[in-house]
Amino acid sequence: MPTDSQSPYLPFGENKHAAWYGKDILSVKQFSREDLEYVFGVAHEMRGMVERVGTFDLLKGKILANLFYEPSTRTSSSFTAAMERLGGSVIPINEVKYSSVSKGESLPDTIRTLECYADVIVLRHPETGSAAIAAKAARKPIINAGDGIGEHPTQALLDTFTIMEELGHLDNLTVTMLGDLKYGRTVHSLARLLSKFNNIKLNYVSPDILRMPKEVMDEVAQKNIPQAEYASLEKVLPETDILYVTRVQKERFEDPADYEKVKGAYVIDPQVMQVAKKEMAVLHPLPRVTEISVDFDEDPRAAYFRQMEYGLYVRMALLAMVLGKA
Ligand code: NCD
Repeated sequence: MPTDSQSPYLPFGENKHAAWYGKDILSVKQFSREDLEYVFGVAHEMRGMVERVGTFDLLKGKILANLFYEPSTRTSSSFTAAMERLGGSVIPINEVKYSSVSKGESLPDTIRTLECYADVIVLRHPETGSAAIAAKAARKPIINAGDGIGEHPTQALLDTFTIMEELGHLDNLTVTMLGDLKYGRTVHSLARLLSKFNNIKLNYVSPDILRMPKEVMDEVAQKNIPQAEYASLEKVLPETDILYVTRVQKERFEDPADYEKVKGAYVIDPQVMQVAKKEMAVLHPLPRVTEISVDFDEDPRAAYFRQMEYGLYVRMALLAMVLGKA
């Protein structure tokens, strides 16, 4: 039997020996510091290619299934754009109510179906651990695009890529996470990922009922990263290099009255930001509701719109990696 690289049917076969070929991306725990540097290198090249040529054929003929059981604008459209900029195509399943999910199909069966047609599956699902369940059922790579309040690894990768592009380094940083640290999956992934760097200090500012889960804090503590919790931003804002603002996750509250109590807890505006450093950046995974005033958008430290664009390059890199083309 000819090997794939000799096969007349696969003249442009993928590199099956590449480290990330065929792998699932379920958690930031899978990424070492070296892996991150590799992802950032590829993402940086993707940025250059998009700026120079827009679209190119690295993943020509490959198909992505974009399976979203929860609302999404940025994650779903940036994965679509990433695949199409690399010359591939996308099966979009945003409205699961119009798919067989509404007939009672299980997640593993839906995954088994989609992998017959696609080379890679991006999954967003309301239950923690769902991406791992999908990965168990699948032969093709699964990319976790948010599993309930669990993790959002591709967001944390793009968040750290943003920090790198904005500040030029990921060591020696004081990072302050603000808002809903209990239900916000992006901060669960980001805190874990940042704990792989040197001389990082993490501040968590939240209402008492929305504190960072103990499980995440325990994991970060194992890496000897100093962490401190606060109810108010005042004390820590002047020392902050990265302010990571999050939306209060209304849809995840068991009691709507609790949401009402904390929904407007923090608002970042030009006045609040007067005491912050000149050289720092404000990030937000978006969508925002009221936690960052639009009056702050023109400030050079407001990096959240650039952050969305960086997401495209990181997702291009990840797709190329798991499909053996990087
Ligand atoms: C985040 C998410 O879905 O967790 N959004 C995103 O992917 N950019 C944050 C949020 O919904 O608040």
